[in-house]
Amino acid sequence: MALRTIRIQGDPVLTKVCRPIPEMTPKIEELIGDMLETMYEANGVGLAAPQVGILKRLVVIDVGDGPIVMINPSILETSGEQTGDEGCLSLPGKAGNVTRPNYVKARALDENMEEYTIEGTELLARAICHELDHLDGHMYTEKAEGPIHDVNYEEEA
Ligand code: NI
Repeated sequence: MALRTIRIQGDPVLTKVCRPIPEMTPKIEELIGDMLETMYEANGVGLAAPQVGILKRLVVIDVGDGPIVMINPSILETSGEQTGDEGCLSLPGKAGNVTRPNYVKARALDENMEEYTIEGTELLARAICHELDHLDGHMYTEKAEGPIHDVNYEEEA
């Protein structure tokens, strides 16, 4: 495994729509491992493939309960609302106030290309929404209410 370079907002790769992954390959396996290592090294709670320059529908998340790999993910259901500071590894040291669903149910393929569903609330729901937005070329800054401000905490995605 190896660390990948995290792309910073302004890089056009972060505005592209990513392509589905049709099958597992050694390159995708390597990418998953590298993305997890890169996310942990940056103290992030999530990382999407376009953030390391790869336009594929793949995200990794860990909100403290272990790694989650989501290939070709989609949101099935949402409910409720949460509003709070959100950060991104592609905009380090910054945060903005973003409203997200407080509950999310999503479907994805795991690293064995087996389909599963996942339910999350609070930070996990926020992270799923945030990462899936990256796959369609969107950053949280488009949804932030009020100014993007400096932060000194480490919870970035
Ligand atoms: Ni992000």
